[in-house]
Amino acid sequence: MSVNIPRGTQDILPGQSEKWQYIESIAKDVCRRYHYKEIRTPIFEHTELFKRSVGDTTDIVQKEMYTFEDRGERSLTLRPEGTAAVVRSFVENKMFGHPDQPVKLFYTGPMFRYERPQAGRYRQFVQFGVEAIGSEDPAIDAEVIALVMDIYKAAGLQKLNLVINSLGDADSRNAHREALIGHFEPRIEEFCSDCQTRLQQNPLRILDCKKDRNHELMQTAPSILDYLNEESKVYFEKVTGYLDAIGVSYTVDPKLVRGLDYYNHTAFEVMSEAEGFGAITTLCGGGRYNGLVQQLGGPESPGIGFAFSIERFIAAMEAEGVEWPIDQGIDCFVVALGDAAKDRSVSLVHELRTAGLSADRDYQDRKMKAQLKASDRQHARFTAILGEDELAENRITLKDMAAGSQDQVPLNELAGYIKTKMEAK
Ligand code: HAM
Repeated sequence: MSVNIPRGTQDILPGQSEKWQYIESIAKDVCRRYHYKEIRTPIFEHTELFKRSVGDTTDIVQKEMYTFEDRGERSLTLRPEGTAAVVRSFVENKMFGHPDQPVKLFYTGPMFRYERPQAGRYRQFVQFGVEAIGSEDPAIDAEVIALVMDIYKAAGLQKLNLVINSLGDADSRNAHREALIGHFEPRIEEFCSDCQTRLQQNPLRILDCKKDRNHELMQTAPSILDYLNEESKVYFEKVTGYLDAIGVSYTVDPKLVRGLDYYNHTAFEVMSEAEGFGAITTLCGGGRYNGLVQQLGGPESPGIGFAFSIERFIAAMEAEGVEWPIDQGIDCFVVALGDAAKDRSVSLVHELRTAGLSADRDYQDRKMKAQLKASDRQHARFTAILGEDELAENRITLKDMAAGSQDQVPLNELAGYIKTKMEAK
């Protein structure tokens, strides 16, 4: 009996993996322009880290974590997201001591959540994320949002909606929390059992409930924007003002709440508006998390960041029908006929590769026709044919597949000849 891949995971095969590399390279290049540097943290962390940051009452911590005990009886968890680990590392490596704040970081790697798999939702998915830790300047909020929108733009995505909200500071949130309890409490028995628990623990989470989303009380729930104190209001106006100034368009949605507990002030999501994208339209989520560094044992260092999954990014590209500028081909395929030519082709492909070209040859002892077909299938820009005659005369027949032309080239000049032709194009 064969063993299959676990539910909610996927193999990224050649033909697809180039798309992943492409998106990662675009994202990294935009990060370079914005001066964000890469951080790599472990794939598993102490379970406690996520409980204390993502929050004990969130779905992620309560239902979705891959938690296990190692042989030393420590409780470890496969990371469900990246922010907690980056903040842990910020504290542990005393990055708060750097003279230049905020510390601007990006990361990419697999995350794990035990969710019900469906289109766009996996149990292992790859996030690309950014965190700017150590500044409460609203300009950094605008910068982080502009950064992610620039990544989408560089990839050619257009049908996007940036939704933004303010969750306010602790005072504003407490006032809003009381209002939410007052709003839902009288009719809380009409809601699911999760929402009944959420009422006292974390009433904001009720607004995010998938089961009760159509209940009439959801529509009339008190809006956080009505409970923002002056400071929070001014902060939010500054952020949206900066976004206006740099030409990033957005929709303010007072109902936007995020699934993790560490947020305050700015919260945002990017949604795909492409037809046929599927039920889950959120491409990216992020926000500000002042207080998280202290919660994890560091000094006051306010932060903001976002993360998107490559899976949903690719789905959005496909839904919008954006071209993938990916070259699947190779520069040269060497067709060799006869034992002597085959032997010579070993060093010939090596010479091409050493010269920086991509090259391949036949390893199945196939006839000329089959080798030519393979060259075609591999989208070779050039096919070099080495038979016994050519070998005896120290030359090779070079076919330019795009131009449909054919040349005789001295054997030891092949790499240089191909390079010159490619540059001329
Ligand atoms: P999140 O909203 O939980 O936020 O996830 C961010 C993004 O990860 C989502 O918008 C989606 O693109 C992707 N994602 C989440 N779950 C799945 C899944 N099961 N399958 C595929 N993609 C998924 C965070 O994780 C925060 N750490 C973001 C952040 C960074 N906030 C501040 N800094």
